[in-house]
Amino acid sequence: MKVVLNVDNIVSGYGKKEVLHGVSLTVREGEIVSIIGPNGSGKSTVLKTVIGQLKCRSGRVIFNGRDITGSEAHKVISLGISYTPQGSIVFPDMTVSEHLDMGAWILKGKEAVKAAAQRVYEIFPILYERRNQKAKTMSGGERQMLSLGRAMMTDPELLIMDEPSIGLAPMFVDSVYESIIRINAGGTAFLIVEQNAVKALENSRCGYVLEMGKNRFEGDAKALLENEEVRRLYLGG
Ligand SMILES: Nc1ncnc2c1ncn2[C@@H]1O[C@H](COP(=O)(O)OP(=O)(O)OP(=O)(O)O)[C@@H](O)[C@H]1O
Ligand SMILES: [Mg+2]
Repeated sequence: MKVVLNVDNIVSGYGKKEVLHGVSLTVREGEIVSIIGPNGSGKSTVLKTVIGQLKCRSGRVIFNGRDITGSEAHKVISLGISYTPQGSIVFPDMTVSEHLDMGAWILKGKEAVKAAAQRVYEIFPILYERRNQKAKTMSGGERQMLSLGRAMMTDPELLIMDEPSIGLAPMFVDSVYESIIRINAGGTAFLIVEQNAVKALENSRCGYVLEMGKNRFEGDAKALLENEEVRRLYLGG
């Protein structure tokens, strides 16, 4: 299968502190891939480096055969990657439809924006019902859907999500993953960072375990779920 994203031995960090000491991973066409690992292991840093929010000090990031290492975030997004940061950032006083319009900044023309919003509303009817409602009056799960919906507006080939289920009750976690699976069925590949490691692996084709800024385990998600050491160290037994 075609490789959509290839992260090859990336090194990055903050100021003098090096956080990633050579991380590699691959996402293939239409796959859901997850990254798990303890707090502070560098999961969010990997995503920020991939999308160009953080400088890659060495190594390479290849998207669809094109070297995007060092490209700026807006450029990366215009090439077909969407990113939802940790903590589902929404603007409290903006409505649902305003958020979607904002997500469409790379689209040209009103008609294209309207068609994209239509597609999002088909997947999330609840967002259509609440299209004129401000984000601050929505529940955590609804905001997470809004975050996903906004990221979908550009019809990305790869959707990168940092902790999509954080802070959500189990019922909402399930509905966020159901949404991810529905969007994935339309051909969008996913790279997901998750605290909820079991849930992420259950829904992924393959997974990566990070520890202290390095790859620790990787492989088929089912095999990781069954791996004794992975279970004991990262999945709570
Ligand atoms: N803006 C920052 N400035 C300085 N250090 C940072 C910054 N963001 C993260 N770090 C440090 O980088 C390391 C990795 O952080 P990162 O956010 O990538 O971890 P994570 O695996 O996403 O953790 P979590 O599961 O808690 O979200 C941590 O030691 C953290 O303190
Ligand atoms: Mg994080």
